[in-house]
Amino acid sequence: MKKILVIGGGAMGSAFTIPCIEKKNDVTITEPYSKRFIRDLSSKKKIHSALKIRLPKKLKFRRFSDDLLREKFDLLVIALSLPGIDFIRKKLKHNKIKIPVLVLTKGLKYLSKKKKILTISENLKKNCGIKNVSVLKGPCLAKELARKNQTRVVIANKNINFAKKIGKQISTKYYLTEFSRDVIGVEVCSAIKNIYSMIIGAGQSLNASSNLFQKSIIEMKYVTKYFRGKEETTLGLAGAGDLYVSAAGGRNSKMGSYLGKGYSFKTAKKKFMPNDTVEGEQLAREIAPFVLKKLDKNKIPLMRSLITTIIKNKKLKIKV
Ligand SMILES: NC(=O)c1ccc[n+]([C@@H]2O[C@H](COP(=O)([O-])OP(=O)(O)OC[C@H]3O[C@@H](n4cnc5c(N)ncnc54)[C@H](O)[C@@H]3O)[C@@H](O)[C@H]2O)c1
Repeated sequence: MKKILVIGGGAMGSAFTIPCIEKKNDVTITEPYSKRFIRDLSSKKKIHSALKIRLPKKLKFRRFSDDLLREKFDLLVIALSLPGIDFIRKKLKHNKIKIPVLVLTKGLKYLSKKKKILTISENLKKNCGIKNVSVLKGPCLAKELARKNQTRVVIANKNINFAKKIGKQISTKYYLTEFSRDVIGVEVCSAIKNIYSMIIGAGQSLNASSNLFQKSIIEMKYVTKYFRGKEETTLGLAGAGDLYVSAAGGRNSKMGSYLGKGYSFKTAKKKFMPNDTVEGEQLAREIAPFVLKKLDKNKIPLMRSLITTIIKNKKLKIKV
């Protein structure tokens, strides 16, 4: 039994505790930001308002604090969304946390001063001195995991034996794991699929979307390689696997469908999705300054047109 602290009581962080508890780990969850999730997790029944299920009785909830971070855990799991990464990075640095970290968050960070893009694991390693960072990605809708529908995810660590150790501690019949050494490739794929699922969603028929799916995979290979990931990772669970689930039924592809119908991003957001976070939009804005300048424009026409559509609030133009 391992002592696991999950930081982030949103849909994914909470769903992730279910296989962890089933494998008899001692699991604590904490929520640094959202009053709604604090209310859900601290209530007696522990009904999660986003997942619409009752969380396991054995799940412990603790208020977020520096003292909690400094307690002795075997594994710290980060399940915040991308805007929470800077916050937790500073907290981990301030508290000199050195224990192994597992990142569920999907996204990339642009460092404007250094004019560089870092993955989340690179950011945590370079900017808070945590040596052992694993990442877990792949097709996993939190609502499905919470209902124990089978999925398979990939855990990546340069030290693959450590990734396997985590896999042993958390995988169940419905939460299957595979392993990779290509940490950067897995992170890049899992981040950019949010942009490509918007593009695929913009196709106004299944035929058109399939065409965009295939072209997206080709671009994803180039982008993954550009950031020093392995091309073949694009065809794995964090790439094609996660792209399928996001394109088939996520908020990014829903937004993409409005863009494909000719709405601008701002109009579509206000009219159809006012309360939804669209992760592809967050990522597009984050990486735009770098991608539009540095990457070969002939290799990423789809990504460029989506980014331009969002940052300039223009109509989407896709040429394939
Ligand atoms: N690795 C996987 O298998 C997997 C699967 C699904 C989702 N995810 C990723 O997990 C992350 C969370 O997704 P979710 O579905 O739980 O989202 P959610 O909206 O349900 O929860 C978001 C979490 O981030 C926190 N947060 C948001 N803004 C913050 C800020 N500014 N500062 C601090 N904390 C902040 C919220 O309080 C909450 O804990 C996303 O990056 C998503 O892509 C990973």
